[in-house]
Amino acid sequence: MEKVKIALLGLGNVGRGVWMILDSNKEEIVKRSGYDVEISKILVRDKDKERGVDVPKELITTDFNEILNDESIKIVIEVMGGIEPARDYMIKSMEKGKHIVTANKMLLATGGDELFEMADSKGVMFQYEASVAGGIPIIQGINESLTANKIKEMYGIINGTTNYILSKMELENLSFEEALKGATEKGYAEADPTSDIEGFDAQYKLAILSSLAFGTKIDVENVYREGITHIQSIDMEYAKEFKMAVKLLAIVKDVNGKLEMRVHPTMIPRNHPLANVYDSFNSVLVKGNAVGDLMFYGRGAGDLPTGSAVVSDMINILKLGIHSDNIQSVVKNNLWDKKIRSIEGVHSKYYIRTSVVDEPGVLRDITGILGDHDISLRSVIQKGQNKKGELVTLVLVTHRAKEIQIIDAIDEIYELRTVKKIDNIIRIEEFEEE
Ligand SMILES: NC(=O)c1ccc[n+]([C@@H]2O[C@H](COP(=O)([O-])OP(=O)(O)OC[C@H]3O[C@@H](n4cnc5c(N)ncnc54)[C@H](OP(=O)(O)O)[C@@H]3O)[C@@H](O)[C@H]2O)c1
Repeated sequence: MEKVKIALLGLGNVGRGVWMILDSNKEEIVKRSGYDVEISKILVRDKDKERGVDVPKELITTDFNEILNDESIKIVIEVMGGIEPARDYMIKSMEKGKHIVTANKMLLATGGDELFEMADSKGVMFQYEASVAGGIPIIQGINESLTANKIKEMYGIINGTTNYILSKMELENLSFEEALKGATEKGYAEADPTSDIEGFDAQYKLAILSSLAFGTKIDVENVYREGITHIQSIDMEYAKEFKMAVKLLAIVKDVNGKLEMRVHPTMIPRNHPLANVYDSFNSVLVKGNAVGDLMFYGRGAGDLPTGSAVVSDMINILKLGIHSDNIQSVVKNNLWDKKIRSIEGVHSKYYIRTSVVDEPGVLRDITGILGDHDISLRSVIQKGQNKKGELVTLVLVTHRAKEIQIIDAIDEIYELRTVKKIDNIIRIEEFEEE
């Protein structure tokens, strides 16, 4: 059996998972790939760091050139993260004819085209299943199994950290801060959690998914992004009253040929399957015009789940044939030019929480303004002491309206003397066909 040498760039969470899977599932990997796979070099920053896996010291290097200049290394697995030097190392590896597996969503979302084009021009394979939703085979699903479909819409819970936080807020009535602290202690949130809680991580992933599902190039800046830091326990309570759950949803829809892409906290019906995706689990609902509704569910992060996607990508490359001189591009993201619909053009229902002075006529004034903007109300809840001059909470739920109508109406409502604060606005998604 032919031996094939591969190199790992990085031996952190994912790198360790890759090492463990290659070690524990060796027989399966050999049989399925047809090759005797050997990791021959591992690039890290700190050679002396304790790694928690039994890796022979001689494999570890801090010099990328040892990998680049070793012609016997056929596949480079990039699991170091960040933009540079990851980008540079992948470009140089492809120039030398090495195939690539990467888990790097940030780089793919912001500069993937350059890498895909390089892979095409050099005739090497480029796989990136782990970049979205960790162990869930969503990229393979879209790129291979669903290509007979026109995909109309996708809805994803694709950030485990925020889903963990929102789950704790919903199920254990924790505040956002308490839930974030728990996520950090459990290792779900990084020391700097900005990328997760402000929605950047989900924004990168949605850009990648949208590009593949709709065969078009996507500028990540066209994906609207809003994090979960403004979600409070009280919103969770109201959500329960409305038989809703709050999730950070990544949504992409093709509405009359225009793509709308958005990541934001969303109230969804309590009985919808996505509402029951808890803790750090991920899930993606794909609506295809032939297949109908399809749901993926699983672990979106972690050493072994992510390692599972990375090693499967490596096996795919081996199965497709590392010696073939007829390698087809795996990335078809330039098939259509799609127009983008900005957030102002999106239609949604809205939950609006306000603090108002408890006086007769407040609700009449607010509904009057909403009516002027063609927005009708589905329900209203008022809570608070009925003491003269005190603020009470007024929660409004609208029927479907265009975002720009809501923005304009809210501007006017804010001008009312009796409205002291617009405390929160959360979009509602009920998964109806547009
Ligand atoms: N963690 C997950 O569950 C997960 C899930 C899906 C995708 N991903 C993606 O997978 C990638 C890796 O994530 P991770 O969580 O495994 O990261 P990590 O734990 O921080 O590990 C990064 C590894 O890369 C090495 N490294 C970083 N910069 C380097 C440089 N300039 N030169 C040489 N080595 C360098 C580090 O070396 P030292 O150890 O010596 O510092 C470390 O071993 C990222 O792109 C991430 O977005 C992660």
